[in-house]
Amino acid sequence: MILVAGHCCPDDVYHVVKYPDEDSTVGSRTEHNRCTKQSWERGGNASNNATVLSCLGASVEYFGTLADDNLLQFLQADMDSLGIKRENCPIIQCGTGPISVVICSEETGSRTIVHAKGNLPELTVDDLEKLDISKYSWIHFEGRNEASLPAMLTRIKEYNSTHSKTESLQQCANDLKPNYQKAKIPVSIEVEKHRESLAVLLPLADVVLVGKDFAMLQGAKDCIEAAKIISTKVEPGTVVVCPWGDQGASYCIARSNPADVDVKKQDAYVPDKIIDSLGAGDTFNSTVIYCLYKGMDIGTSVDLGCRIASEKLKIRGFKGIK
Ligand code: FRU
Repeated sequence: MILVAGHCCPDDVYHVVKYPDEDSTVGSRTEHNRCTKQSWERGGNASNNATVLSCLGASVEYFGTLADDNLLQFLQADMDSLGIKRENCPIIQCGTGPISVVICSEETGSRTIVHAKGNLPELTVDDLEKLDISKYSWIHFEGRNEASLPAMLTRIKEYNSTHSKTESLQQCANDLKPNYQKAKIPVSIEVEKHRESLAVLLPLADVVLVGKDFAMLQGAKDCIEAAKIISTKVEPGTVVVCPWGDQGASYCIARSNPADVDVKKQDAYVPDKIIDSLGAGDTFNSTVIYCLYKGMDIGTSVDLGCRIASEKLKIRGFKGIK
């Protein structure tokens, strides 16, 4: 089973014919710019990852704090409808939970998110300690909680160092296999947000999925440069994947000598018409994780990540992704 830890929030989604002008009103029957659909969706990067992983056929558990407010049941029921486990989620009375308002433009395919954090606290190391982590065969973290995540990631590293996957772990310590293939519980992390402080997470995972905002903050101008730069900030043997929107994605395995790093690039499959781009990045990341988890090679995993992200762009929501 795959455990996905991070954020879940309700998304209040509006599909409009074109992105509104500032200080205008968009109604269902307005002539020059209409709202064609409104829906409530379960969002948040980790929660979206769990959705896509379940659509792809993985058994998956979501792990994150949930606010005990009037949208809790909606979020829980939506997870249940997809068979996403959630029994270890701390439910917290915090007054105001997080929420996003999303405007999806039919004209350009853009999705504009306004997110209000609310008062919901993040997961703590104690929450992780309560889990029986031996149940999981992959753990993915959304990189958002730099106060507690280093300790959580270290906890799993310690578990892995005392529970070797094979008797020959010592023997293969120096071979060219990526680290996730040697770990009992491989750990992936998404580092996406425009926040320098997230850099502390990079050396603590076996697979890092680094978004454009964070990579640009590190000085990268394109995805090839991004993978090169990030590969110097992780442990040798870490898989680095850098999705770059309609430019596709780059990937490499970090080496102790940066000159040995061989960065590859995969083009995106951009559809003729984008119906809904909300969560396309989450779809890419989930697919890459699923494929690596299933034992596919890194190039195939990134290619499938781009293909499934493209399929997602052609439909509203995630249901129907495969
Ligand atoms: C999409 C998303 C939305 C959510 C927002 C939170 O990637 O996860 O579902 O509202 O980002 O940052």
